[in-house]
Amino acid sequence: MVKRFRFGAPIETEAVLEKGAQQDKQQLSLVQTADGLEYEMPDDMIVYGLGENTRGINKRGWIYVSNCTDNPHHNEGTRSLYGAHNFLLLSGEGQQLGLFIDTPAKVTFDIGYSRYNLLRITAGQDYDLYVIEGSTPAQVVQEFRQLIGRSYIPPKWAFGYGQSRWSYLSSDEVREVVRGHREKGLPLDSVYLDIDYMERYKDFTVDREQFADFEQLVSEMKQEHIHLVPIIDAGVKVEEGYDVYEEGEKEGYFCKDEEGNDFIVGVWPGRCCFPDMLNDKARAWFGNKYKVLLDKGIDGFWNDMNEPAVFYSEKRLKKVFEKLQDYQGQNLDVNTFFEFQALAAGVSNNEEDYRSFYHNYRGEKIRHDKVHNLFGYYMTRSASEAFERLEPEKRILMYSRSSYIGMHRYAGIWQGDNLSWWSHLLMNLKMMPSLNMCGFLYTGADIGGFGGDATEDLVIRWLSFGVFTPLLRNHAARGTRQQEAYRFPRTNLFQNVLTARYCMLPYLYSEFMKAALRSTMMFSPLGFVYPSDQTARQVEDQLFVGENIMIAPVYEQNASGRTVYFPETMKLLRFHDGGVLEGSVYEKGWAYVEMPLGDVCVFIRDGYLLPLAKGGSHVAEVDFEDLRLYTCGSDVKSYEYYMDDGETKDYSLDKYIRILKAE
Ligand code: NOJ
Repeated sequence: MVKRFRFGAPIETEAVLEKGAQQDKQQLSLVQTADGLEYEMPDDMIVYGLGENTRGINKRGWIYVSNCTDNPHHNEGTRSLYGAHNFLLLSGEGQQLGLFIDTPAKVTFDIGYSRYNLLRITAGQDYDLYVIEGSTPAQVVQEFRQLIGRSYIPPKWAFGYGQSRWSYLSSDEVREVVRGHREKGLPLDSVYLDIDYMERYKDFTVDREQFADFEQLVSEMKQEHIHLVPIIDAGVKVEEGYDVYEEGEKEGYFCKDEEGNDFIVGVWPGRCCFPDMLNDKARAWFGNKYKVLLDKGIDGFWNDMNEPAVFYSEKRLKKVFEKLQDYQGQNLDVNTFFEFQALAAGVSNNEEDYRSFYHNYRGEKIRHDKVHNLFGYYMTRSASEAFERLEPEKRILMYSRSSYIGMHRYAGIWQGDNLSWWSHLLMNLKMMPSLNMCGFLYTGADIGGFGGDATEDLVIRWLSFGVFTPLLRNHAARGTRQQEAYRFPRTNLFQNVLTARYCMLPYLYSEFMKAALRSTMMFSPLGFVYPSDQTARQVEDQLFVGENIMIAPVYEQNASGRTVYFPETMKLLRFHDGGVLEGSVYEKGWAYVEMPLGDVCVFIRDGYLLPLAKGGSHVAEVDFEDLRLYTCGSDVKSYEYYMDDGETKDYSLDKYIRILKAE
């Protein structure tokens, strides 16, 4: 049951499809405060949700702020990342309560940080609160997901392996990456183009010196079943003669400052303007620009820097330079030195800058900070709406860095600038179910880690988890060690891990599609499947993937196995040395399981089956019909296998589900 309570006059976000009637506040099960809500949490309550955030699957014991931020520091002290996903699920003994705070402005969730039993939500004066009551966590999520609408569905090829780096600098480098994979028998479906494919970082242009044969490259790659996926940035370079800038300028499509002039910020190309993604006309105009690349044969994109990230605003930079003069010649003591340091550090993503530009949203002038969390959502929506107009029948790969709930209908997200740290592998795992709760099914993190130098074993272990995530992409920052699979010595281990992915594709795709079409979770915490098993509820490093299997990845260096909690009887299936081995059956309880580097382990639930294909060097080569069914136990349930063409938008549970039965 969903109830909506309105506070003040919230700005429309279009997160929810049908709002439903407003309820009388008498019915509210939370306490209303001057600027938000409070709730007393019993000791054993688990708080799930909040999508893209650091820390645990259970969010209790920290304070989180929904404020889309370009923050490459994903650690325990972090309060905000790139997305704003204001959904919580309070799961206690006999009580499951979903809460969605719908406002595009900043929201703070103090979940037992100030006082262990207190949930305090600070949301200002204007927001809609949706309260969802249900009997199980899974049921509450399903109701919430139905409220916010069906999740984005990518093309089937986008479930293949993608290789990325900031940046591959020329057509030849792209060819070399593909060759590297193909020669070593490593499957691959896509290569990413980061900002350097553009001419001086101008959106919708191509650097004709390094990518002179861009169109030829795209079609040559298609022949090899490789999709090129270019990046698009939120900032448009200010430059006379650059058509995108000139048109935007002329039509008044850029965000304005207080005086009504274009608001100038610095991003990759230097001085830029932000298209006003909230203005319907500007959004349609920006979206149509993707056609430039669609026409060249491109069928996938990633949208970046759309929190929006601001290196500096022109006005702030001017002030800072002036102020810096004051320090010249001074004896900088502890206070003045820190002031001086903070001055330069504070130019980026400055709150004051976010308060000094304006949108034209639904005909009204609105200051950016009041709608901040919608910018990335609406940028991505601009592209997806354009795809609907330009290529209505075709699925196009699209994902974004910044997001708000509602954007999940238009695209997926990747989890931003993580580091080549073992703890970030675990964080990737923990984010998956939280993101699923908020509608983001097509998601994954930068495998191997974005910043910092990756080691061979980290990339292998990360891939051994990543092969379960819908978005499977290896990506790294410039200046870091090259981490393409073929560059490391133990190619056979990479081969085995990636082969596991291509063998599991029928199951993974089928589970993804059912989760999208039925509004269910693809990645569930153990507590969702066993809500009354107190041990299962506390496990934070294992997940169910779809209904039939559980995973328990290794996320520590030099470990050759780990302890696993089995909430029921399960059978181990091990991808090893290019083959599949049926392993031990584990009874309910804890057990140590050997998991040598390069093995991918899955646990099939008692009475369930796992269909596996033979693999392939790219998705189109996988035979989704030639399946072998692996089972656990004797009384095995049949499997609802969903399979469609993976290209068109003709999705249908009725049409495309078939029943698979073990012999
Ligand atoms: C920031 C993005 O998060 C990262 O993935 C990308 O490589 C850089 N921008 C450069 O475009």
